[in-house]
Amino acid sequence: MCGIVGYTGKRAAMPVLISGLKKLEYRGYDSAGIALSGESGIIVRKQSGKVSGLSDLVDGEKDTLSLSHSGIAHTRWATHGPPTTLNAHPHEGNEGRVVLVHNGIIENHNALRERFKSAGHVFKSETDSEVLAHLVEVNYDGDLLAAVKKSLKEVDGTYGITCMVKDEPGVLVVARSGSPIVIGLGEDETIVASDASAIITYTRQAIYLDDNDIARIEGSKVDIESLDSGAVTRATSEIDWSPDAAEKGGYEHYMLKEVFEQPEAIRNTIRGRIDLNRGTAILSGLNLTPRELVDIQRLLIVGCGTSMNAGLIGEYAVEDFAAIPAEVEQAAEFRYRNPIVGSRDLVLAISQSGETADTLAAVREAVDKGTLVAALVNVVGSTIARETGRGIYLHAGPEVSVASTKAFTSQVSVLLMIALKIARAHRLSREKGIQIAKEIQRLPELVQQVLDCNDKIAEVAKHYADYNNAFYIGRGYMFPVALEGALKLKEISYIHAEGYHSAELKHGPIALLEESMPVIALLNQGPGQDKTLSNVAECKARNAPVLGVITKGDEEARKTCDHVIEIPACPQYTAVVPAAVALQLFSYHVARIRGCAIDQPRNLAKSVTVE
Ligand code: AGP
Repeated sequence: MCGIVGYTGKRAAMPVLISGLKKLEYRGYDSAGIALSGESGIIVRKQSGKVSGLSDLVDGEKDTLSLSHSGIAHTRWATHGPPTTLNAHPHEGNEGRVVLVHNGIIENHNALRERFKSAGHVFKSETDSEVLAHLVEVNYDGDLLAAVKKSLKEVDGTYGITCMVKDEPGVLVVARSGSPIVIGLGEDETIVASDASAIITYTRQAIYLDDNDIARIEGSKVDIESLDSGAVTRATSEIDWSPDAAEKGGYEHYMLKEVFEQPEAIRNTIRGRIDLNRGTAILSGLNLTPRELVDIQRLLIVGCGTSMNAGLIGEYAVEDFAAIPAEVEQAAEFRYRNPIVGSRDLVLAISQSGETADTLAAVREAVDKGTLVAALVNVVGSTIARETGRGIYLHAGPEVSVASTKAFTSQVSVLLMIALKIARAHRLSREKGIQIAKEIQRLPELVQQVLDCNDKIAEVAKHYADYNNAFYIGRGYMFPVALEGALKLKEISYIHAEGYHSAELKHGPIALLEESMPVIALLNQGPGQDKTLSNVAECKARNAPVLGVITKGDEEARKTCDHVIEIPACPQYTAVVPAAVALQLFSYHVARIRGCAIDQPRNLAKSVTVE
């Protein structure tokens, strides 16, 4: 997820583009760039780091650069190629005539890149996006709209793009498939952007492009077409959000926005990684052949906080699918306990930020111990990603809220794919593999069903917002979900919450059960449900209020609880995701009712870079 801005009109384009980028920085903040079109051609300035750095860079040339009345700009969230100046957008065609900014992922970029290389093209970056600029330039024959239209028919993947050509100053061409583009209609001017936050300073009249829409824009003249046919008309809508709300996409908090982004985030995470024909996963970043995978005799997962909880679900899945041992270690403990690791182990480090000090140290310890090390990271180019040099990016997009939500469900999605791939290299049949692959592909829709119950969950939360303590209980795959649910409530609502394996209650915690100690029970149908039902009965016998996360329509479970949150029916190994989303929303609403600082909870940092 990156931020794109474009301007054509009578104003100086540069200040409009720079202020637009600042508004979109929550979408990506590892590098930025701008291209300004004028009579003398197109000037490109870009660099790694925050938008403020780019702003300082162009400020030094503002006398010349401010003469331009049209331009495009981009703030990046790296997916392909680390955050460097060369990989920053805008990207140019081979002759520098066409300049383009892109948000999304071009899946067939390697094939296109090889084609152009053999035709003598020189690529400056490692990005998938640069290929698009080369393609449009090759197809350019005096009409930028036609060139972009022809080019987009040759690419697979997602995109929101804005581009310019030297030959047509003042003209922008924008297109969308999977990544948002909004067109802001002004007096004698038009501003385009990835979302309304970069537009509302100038106009509140906006057109939201649909997938497969493409538009030619010059000044206030906007012509929209469909990629497959001719002109189309799109409704103009009034943007009534405050600038702050716009950055949050109209949501009250980044956390809620990111919770609702999960179906799309998971789609981006699994896109191009499921092989339904062979019943396995395609995880090229792991860079391990089935021959090497079959040699792996143990998976050791290291991480902290939410990432460690995701790892626990990975442990269950690897042992369940592949029948090889898997263990989860708290990263700091792994680092200091002189771990026993060998040549047939794979150490998998999980970190959203890729910068967590303890997890980084655990990676270095494993590397020094000479074992195979891989990482599961969201931030491209982060230290853990660079130091392992082997791993999988989540593609979940930037996660701004301290409370990790979409990174967790994306981590679990990847761990299920890793378990599937390892299992197929061991004992798992192709048929069973296909079944698991299909269940993984259902995840976005399963999550959407829980998001559709947001209002009901908000109602349930009202009954639990006044307690100062809470227990979460679960068994099997649901035990880590209980831990994660408790962590979320702790982090943002300051309620002292503990996650337990349901069977653990009788060995101590049950002493605390009474009417002021609510229990949140993972009670969905599956192995161990009957046991957890009897644990719930023990809680009820001590007057503890019980909130059950149950399978939709499960009346028997419903009867045992004071309140319920329903999740769709699915196997345990995928039910962990909708169940976790249900508990994210529950904790969000409890914290909202308690008036907590949800996005910036006290004492917490988004990335813990100290021990
Ligand atoms: C989760 O909501 C917390 N922000 C925290 O537990 C986090 O998961 C932990 O600090 C690990 O961060 P990482 O995934 O960036 O390494």
